[in-house]
Amino acid sequence: MRTQVGIVGAGPAGLMLAHLLRREGIDSVVLERRSRDYIEGRIRAGVIEQWVADLLVETGLGARLQREGLVHRGINISFAGSLHHLDFTDLIGKHITVYGQQEVVKDLVAARLGGGGEILFEVEDVGIDDFAGGAPRIRFRSKVGEAIEIDCDFIAGCDGSHGVCRPSIPRGALTSFEREYPFGWLGILAESPPPCEELIYAYHERGFGLYSMRSPTLSRLYLQCAADEDLNEWPDERVWHELHARLGGSSKLAEGKVLLKGVTPMRSVVVEPMQYGKLFLAGDSAHIVPPTGAKGMNLAIADVRVLARALAEFYRFGRGDLLESYSHTCLRRVWKAQRFSWWMTTLLHQPVDANAFDRRRQLAELDYLAGSRHAQRALAENYTGLPFD
Ligand code: FAD
Ligand code: DHB
Repeated sequence: MRTQVGIVGAGPAGLMLAHLLRREGIDSVVLERRSRDYIEGRIRAGVIEQWVADLLVETGLGARLQREGLVHRGINISFAGSLHHLDFTDLIGKHITVYGQQEVVKDLVAARLGGGGEILFEVEDVGIDDFAGGAPRIRFRSKVGEAIEIDCDFIAGCDGSHGVCRPSIPRGALTSFEREYPFGWLGILAESPPPCEELIYAYHERGFGLYSMRSPTLSRLYLQCAADEDLNEWPDERVWHELHARLGGSSKLAEGKVLLKGVTPMRSVVVEPMQYGKLFLAGDSAHIVPPTGAKGMNLAIADVRVLARALAEFYRFGRGDLLESYSHTCLRRVWKAQRFSWWMTTLLHQPVDANAFDRRRQLAELDYLAGSRHAQRALAENYTGLPFD
């Protein structure tokens, strides 16, 4: 087989890259180790920055998003027993859309398959070769066990944080910058109607709580917990009890059937550079953010927007400069998103070794945020998505 761009991974990064390339007349093959059902059912991110929603609409993927996505003018912050609304539209004229990542994935898969494109699902033993020099190759075993090789001009490593592309780069060529947080998020999806129209980020002495949603009948709720929390110790009653304690003062939380429960550890990772020869890393394969700033999926799409433009310029005009500056261009945005995600995380979570000084300092910062339009605008600008250069 032969293609122009071989894409490993059918998450938001890989699928969006294939979609943008197709619009430029560039051929690609997408390989995914999971099944279509699995990737379309994987519940993850929910907040879409304004420019991402605009990009989905501009590139023909917006029909369901515009019908079912929930446009939010802002978010709420709860602390010290009161709720403060930050109205992004009033502050900076922007908004966010709440629309599940799996819905974006479904729309992208439908567009690719509907447009005659292919996604090779359930592939195994994926490996990449000769990407340092002239003739990159992807080898894998197909769903029916056939050994296949694809010759490509370029490889896009969109295979997430546990993929094969990043570890295939020779040791010493990449520098990894990392920070572990001493806590995680216990998340549930529940059949309970939203008690509040917009998200609530709650600072509480028992730990952080987050109220989000997926539809007028489905709530998505998170609790700060230990990084290695044992889910067996969290029967539904305990989860609801804790949610009432942390969010209850600020909302009338309705209990409902718990459809899903899971724990996510939290870490920040950036690898530099995001390119090696003809291999380009995009999305979680190059960086992980803690979820508090709702940046992961948005950053993955930002990377492939840059990459698709650089590839289009290369194929159209033979220009290589945008490909050469890919990593530098992406990393400027990545580090700003890392900074914002770290800031939201440390502002809102109870540090494990918190002393009274730390708590007073966090409360002072929250009080400042609640009272200062300048501070609110800085948050709004980062949360809704920084402008591109
Ligand atoms: P992925 O979505 O991980 O996709 C990678 C794909 O590659 C996967 O389908 C995987 O199966 C496939 N793959 C892996 N290895 C191979 C291989 N060897 N061969 C072939 N295929 C392979 N982000 C936000 O923006 N907003 C939020 O509100 C938000 N909330 C989150 C909440 C939670 C609980 C979690 C866990 C994450 C959240 N994120 C959020 C982060 C977001 O989900 C990720 O950043 C996003 O999925 C990254 O997309 P990606 O395409 O880079 O990687
Ligand atoms: C959701 C996830 C986040 O990480 C966040 O900061 C806000 C909302 C969500 O899943 O809806």
